[in-house]
Amino acid sequence: MHTSAMTRPLPQTEWHPALWQSRTASQQPLYADVQALENVIARLSRLPPIVTSWEVEALKRQIADAQRGQRFLLQGGDCAESFDDCTSDKIAKKLKILLQMSLVLVYGLKKPVIRVGRMAGQYAKPRSADTETREGLSLPSYRGDLVNRQLFTPSDRAADPELLLRGYERAAMTLNFARALVDGGFADLHHPEYWDLDFVGHSPLEAEYRRIVDSISDSLDFFESISGHSIQETSRVDFYASHEGLHLLYEQAQTRYIQRRRRWYNLSTHFPWIGMRTAQLDGAHVEYFRGIANPIAVKVGPAMTSEWLQELMQVLNPNNEPGRLTLIHRFGAKCIEECLPPLIQAVRGAGALVLWSCDPMHGNTEATAAGIKTRRFDNILAELETAFRIHQEMGSYLGGVHFELTGENVTECTGGARGLTDADLNRAYLSQVDPRLNYEQALELAMRIAGRRVGGT
Ligand code: PEP
Ligand code: CO
Repeated sequence: MHTSAMTRPLPQTEWHPALWQSRTASQQPLYADVQALENVIARLSRLPPIVTSWEVEALKRQIADAQRGQRFLLQGGDCAESFDDCTSDKIAKKLKILLQMSLVLVYGLKKPVIRVGRMAGQYAKPRSADTETREGLSLPSYRGDLVNRQLFTPSDRAADPELLLRGYERAAMTLNFARALVDGGFADLHHPEYWDLDFVGHSPLEAEYRRIVDSISDSLDFFESISGHSIQETSRVDFYASHEGLHLLYEQAQTRYIQRRRRWYNLSTHFPWIGMRTAQLDGAHVEYFRGIANPIAVKVGPAMTSEWLQELMQVLNPNNEPGRLTLIHRFGAKCIEECLPPLIQAVRGAGALVLWSCDPMHGNTEATAAGIKTRRFDNILAELETAFRIHQEMGSYLGGVHFELTGENVTECTGGARGLTDADLNRAYLSQVDPRLNYEQALELAMRIAGRRVGGT
């Protein structure tokens, strides 16, 4: 390849960000105008990165701590972010619920919590079918705002390369604003008098919930009075971004070689994950992920076998690097009892270092009688409870949770203290993809996790 004096030659590494192109890449959109796509990818790869390698390495060290049981990972956000929701209000609300949940968890688990948003880049979705048919017309499925548009017309559903740039810009704006809030504007959020706790009165566990909130308040007051500083001045709150690394050209464009570390980094996010539908050993996603130095996660569902998991760990983390690999299991309340123990054994048998996290959302999706996609609070809680118990019984450590949530007052999941029913789903169902926990349901779940550790519920 010809390189001008101005262009730095690519390093001669065994792995290269485009190597995945020799493999079968599932869940990728088809672009009609290949030249336009190439131009966009070239423009994307010239833009500055959204995150830096030292932040990525800091997160990896924190995940390594969590693997040793010294920290706990809280990861949450929308199933799919939408471009329209890139507003100050929506971002602030999402951050608020994540920070408040993390405080509840810190209190209950008595360890530092790693806060990771499923945001600032969560714009591409895997779909079960490539096309959608309505009244005899078949069009490409909606694959997230990074790829195409939701309206059911041929032009809206055509994959548009410009959206890759729009998504990248919004990811940068989102993380920029989230960081600014975390760095200063959110000081008050540490104090429960700013929390929306109306739902607590609707729960039989009201006394327990109030005790948790009061204790957090007391601890903060105590801390601030003896230190003479507000908690915000004293402890810098770290906040990290994550998304499913699904659209491989987008991920490739953001993959940079960091000379002084002699490694490749995906600098579009701190913590990308491989979704359950794209974890094939010989597939393009695994090929791409093996070469980046970021901490990565893999979603693990009922179809995962012990052999498959052992091979994945071998390919994705051959040197057993601490902090590198998180396994997010998502079996559903019905399957977890049967599916999780063999995989814990498989990890142990391989002598592999992983962080286990539980996603109690994706195995518990169901349709109501009216055909609306929902998830029931009790099933979500049951899967979580079972996950904590199984890990404990087997001498393993459940060191994280992964939620689909929003800071808004939506009605997408049923149950929780207010006892939302199927009939409530019509009221404020905004998700275009999976149903999310609302503010109250999310905070209540954090309280249930904290409560079981504190010995209450
Ligand atoms: C998701 O996290 O939105 C998702 C599609 O999950 P999974 O890959 O676990 O099905
Ligand atoms: Co989802």
